[in-house]
Amino acid sequence: MSLPKVSVIGAGQVGAMVAEHIAIKELADVYLFDVVDGVAKGKSLDIMEGMPHWKSDSFLEGFTVGQNGENYENLKGSEIVVMTAGLARKPGMSRDDLLYKNVDIIKSAAENIKKYSPESTVIVVTNPMDIMTYAAYRVLNPKRNKIMGMGGTLDSGRFRTFIAKELRVSVEDVTAFVVGGHGDDMVPFVRYCSVGGIPLTELMSKEKIDQIVTRTRGGGGEIVSYLKTGSAYYAPGISVTVMVESILKDKKRVITAPALLDGELGQYYGATGLFVGVPIKIGGNGVEEIYKMNFDEEERRLWNTSVSHVHESVQKVNTYLRW
Ligand code: LAC
Repeated sequence: MSLPKVSVIGAGQVGAMVAEHIAIKELADVYLFDVVDGVAKGKSLDIMEGMPHWKSDSFLEGFTVGQNGENYENLKGSEIVVMTAGLARKPGMSRDDLLYKNVDIIKSAAENIKKYSPESTVIVVTNPMDIMTYAAYRVLNPKRNKIMGMGGTLDSGRFRTFIAKELRVSVEDVTAFVVGGHGDDMVPFVRYCSVGGIPLTELMSKEKIDQIVTRTRGGGGEIVSYLKTGSAYYAPGISVTVMVESILKDKKRVITAPALLDGELGQYYGATGLFVGVPIKIGGNGVEEIYKMNFDEEERRLWNTSVSHVHESVQKVNTYLRW
């Protein structure tokens, strides 16, 4: 069976979860890469050995990446590269605390993607996600449609979950929408949320909605505080898979994700040259469209706060890497 190739850099919890879901859905063959000797090989074998039961012919293979990038040549021919490599948060850490540690990792991985698989569409998961997507973009210098972060799908999934639980309705019928940076000042966009087409604001008190918004913003931190040794990986793994599926099947889903805001869009959003979560159409050509949202005054204020945070961190990275 011939399937497209997806490479996943970083075979930690998120990377392995992505590989597993892609394989279960038989979307692609998955190549896992990790610097820790044996981890990518062991996990890819383990996942593949479960696939006969799911009737999936996805092929998986793992590679240990050497100090000098040995084995990265196996990225060749990947339709999509998912970047999950990097350290995860521990309790008390913000996503920004990972900034300098992870930017070095991302830079080196991106250099190898550029060398071996420059045509791939890249999805960045490593935190702080909007900033790491920017760093990868600076190294790869791809067309705008070929690179994006994964954030909005995860955050919207959390928002949908909390709304559905509160109203005791099916998650299927909840449309929810989170924009801005993937940080604690992300913007759950209440006005665009609906349940079976009914605006959320008609179904729930403002007080309740505010509580859910606060919980959504802190959703990643809530899980870190329980796990203590790392951060969320089940929902992040599924969220990446949704994006991979939409690209490989050219489904043209409309989701939110950090995408490059430049030109007229950059001006409109007040975020030129940055990756910040916005509604996009994701299909065979990657980010096929970026939509404009109308903000009211309060939404614009929240958006600007989130963008300025992303901007600050990007400047730190630029100074650190002397870009
Ligand atoms: C979270 C991490 C992936 O939100 O940022 O759980």
